[in-house]
Order: sequence, then structure tokens, then C-alpha cells
Amino acid sequence: MPITTCIFDAYGTLFDVSAAARRAASEPGHSQLADHWQTLARDWRRKQLEYSWLRAITGDHCDFWKVTQDGLDWALEAAGLTDPALRDRLLALYWELEAFPEVPLILKALKDRGKTCAILSNGSPEMLKAAVDSAGLDDLIEDSLSVETVRIFKPDARVYNMVGQRFGCAKSEVLFVSSNGWDAASAAAYGFTTAWVNRAGEPVDRLPGRPHRILKDLKDIPELAA
Ligand code: LAC
Repeated sequence: MPITTCIFDAYGTLFDVSAAARRAASEPGHSQLADHWQTLARDWRRKQLEYSWLRAITGDHCDFWKVTQDGLDWALEAAGLTDPALRDRLLALYWELEAFPEVPLILKALKDRGKTCAILSNGSPEMLKAAVDSAGLDDLIEDSLSVETVRIFKPDARVYNMVGQRFGCAKSEVLFVSSNGWDAASAAAYGFTTAWVNRAGEPVDRLPGRPHRILKDLKDIPELAA
């Protein structure tokens, strides 16, 4: 079946999750971050995801904003950074993450070809709305589907089920795009056609599903969806 629906992960795929730590490091008063922002950004992201998986396994759901804050607190402590104003600033920046440069053009190209483009994300509805608005993507994204509807994080199948429920499409009509190897692998095992946007050049995750295509960025997505 032809692809009718392009579904994007949000964080790391459309929005640059490192941008908060990178921007904070460049601001006056945050010189303590200059040498540490990359480690901080990596630890923050890793812990945020670990906490999402652990909460899914234990059935102790909270929203993604909570695991985002908890992950940051772990990362700040690991880096020996204790300034509460820095914590506040990093969290504030998470609500206005930059989109990767190619994102608007790619979404526009897909829309011009009649594809439905939407987000499927762990993010809470408030976080996703803020990210889409601040990146100016509102006109290009049909909907932002949040796991808060089913109250469990990816890669639970109930999350991927939301796509068919919302758009009435078959799995075979969906191109699912994620920069998270585990998300692309799980969506492939679920039955979507998947593209893993491997921006960081990481090894393939050893999971039951394998992404159908591995890309460096989003530029080839319109061709893949054609
Ligand atoms: C998301 C995270 C997993 O947007 O990147 O769902």
C-alpha cells in the first residue's frame, strides 16, 4: 500500500534536545557549563529515557515533563552543578527547543505531496504544543499525538496503536520516522515502515525489529514516502 501518513517522533527527530544545554552554555553567567554541556545533555537525555522505560515497566506512569525534570536533576548532580537558576533556565529552554534545520522544508514537501504529517511522542500535550509553536511548525503538522492519551510511554504497542485510531490508516500506509534506534526498531516490529534518523552515527539496536531505512537526517523522507 502507498504511504499516506508520515509519523514523526518529536524529541531528537524534529527538535534538537541538545539545544537547551548548548544554548544555556553560551549565555552569560553559565560559564560552569562551557566544558560540560555535551555530557550534561547526553546524561539528561539518557536518564529521561531510562525513567520513561522503567515507569512503563513498573506501571508507575507520570508525564514526560516529570521524567524530563528527574533526568535533569540526575545529570546536574552527576556533573556537580548545583545552581538552581541554571536548572530553571535549562528547563525553560526545553519548552523552546530548536527544530533541526531541514525540518520545515521536509514537512512542507510531504504536505505538498498530499501526505498527512503528525507527531507521535512521549511528550505531554503541553510540551508538544509549545515545541511545535516555538518552531513555527503549526501549519505543517496535522496533529501531535501524545502518550498521555494511553498513559504509558513508548515503545508500548498502545502508543503505536494511536496512529491508526486517529487517522484510520492501515499500518502499511504509515512511514514512521524516529531518531531513536529503539523507537524505530519497535515501530518496525509493530508493523510500520520505519526510517531511523541516525544523526549520531550509532550502532543498530539489537532488538527484534530492524528499521527499514537508516538515514543521516530527514532530507530523503519525501522520496521514501513517495
Ligand atoms: C519522543 C521521544 C522518545 O518524542 O523522543 O517520544
